[in-house]
Amino acid sequence: MNEQLVAHMIEAAIAQLKFSYAPYSEFKVGASLLAGSGKIYTGCNIENAAYTPSNCAERTAFFKAVSEGERKFHAICIAGGKDGILTEYTAPCGVCRQVMMEFCSPDTFKVILAISKEQYKIYTLNEMLPFGFGPANLV
Ligand code: THU
Repeated sequence: MNEQLVAHMIEAAIAQLKFSYAPYSEFKVGASLLAGSGKIYTGCNIENAAYTPSNCAERTAFFKAVSEGERKFHAICIAGGKDGILTEYTAPCGVCRQVMMEFCSPDTFKVILAISKEQYKIYTLNEMLPFGFGPANLV
């Protein structure tokens, strides 16, 4: 991934923090997802008074994209922090990693954890979810 694209994805993820609906945890998360078409889909976390219906920023982005016809993905960028203040890397939860496993190649899909445009780390999905279970297991 070239640096300009990474910077653009980080900006898009951070821009989502203002839409985060997190009145319970007050932990705001933004995500940007680069789809096969080249389009970037965004998402934020959306909490719920009943807690379990809450949705992470990553899944919001994935479900927006899949519901618009996307089936292939190159990379996701995630930025999050208490009150939307970015001081540490926010890694995807296990449920979101499993959703990535459904649509993404574990060896090539990139997970970008960002604090700022200058401070970020890139992992493959395989590093995030080793020995994951996916569609290939069912053929
Ligand atoms: N959250 C995300 O949206 N993505 C992550 O990668 C970690 C956690 C959300 C879920 C919940 O709304 C809040 O952060 C605290 O767990």
